[in-house]
Amino acid sequence: MVPLYRDDPRILGPLPGPRSAAWLERDHRVMSPSYTRVYPLVVRRARGAMIEDMDRNRFLDFTAGIAVTNVGHSHPRVVAAIERQSRRLVHMSGTDFYYAPQVRLAEQLARLAPGPDPKRVFFTNSGAEAIEAALKLARRHTGRNRALAFLGAFHGRTYGAMSLSGSKPMQRRGFAPLVPEIHHARFGDLDSVHALLRTICPADELAAIFVEPIQGEGGYIVPPDDFLPGLRQICDEHGVLLVLDEVQS
Ligand SMILES: Cc1ncc(COP(=O)(O)O)c(C=O)c1O
Repeated sequence: MVPLYRDDPRILGPLPGPRSAAWLERDHRVMSPSYTRVYPLVVRRARGAMIEDMDRNRFLDFTAGIAVTNVGHSHPRVVAAIERQSRRLVHMSGTDFYYAPQVRLAEQLARLAPGPDPKRVFFTNSGAEAIEAALKLARRHTGRNRALAFLGAFHGRTYGAMSLSGSKPMQRRGFAPLVPEIHHARFGDLDSVHALLRTICPADELAAIFVEPIQGEGGYIVPPDDFLPGLRQICDEHGVLLVLDEVQS
């Protein structure tokens, strides 16, 4: 196999090439049309920042696998860890039994999480499931039913996460009714949050505020410096939980 080097992107012909086109046709026959593919890249392999398609065209991957391969594709240490683990044990049901690596990871995450209080960790299968869990925990813990989120937000594709999202009509159309008692303020705008609290979302009925520290799908928007501290203050004043969705940021 010809090695992939960091600095050799190459386009060998019109895109997509014939092999990729054949896979696209097979994909269209059997895969759900609900996936939102943005361009016809059929990936064969990748290394570091370089991606190779089925026709051996090579591209620099500026998305880091949608922000999940920040050490590069197939980093040798990541590959070695996966190989080591798969020799030892492939599947472990952490919801039913105990397992040392799960505890170690939870300890590490608890150490990294900000704030002086001790932390506990709940592992989920996806970002949407984490948001669902946060919404359930917030309602149960506070005994309140309302949640506040932001226009432009994206929190996932399940009902709670979809109801908290405020991004595109397409993501909601045809799926009503959504989860009730969820309100949306303008991202980055504390006045808009206060307006909701004064009118249809009183703070003593509010369980949690869900916010992306930097909005992703909304357009990579960094809020003004006073926005997140302002939300923290509102939450502290009124016993509201602050849920930071860092799935993308
Ligand atoms: C900010 C944010 N939250 C939640 C999600 C949902 O994550 P998942 O696709 O793993 O369910 C996404 C996915 O793009 C996201 O960008």
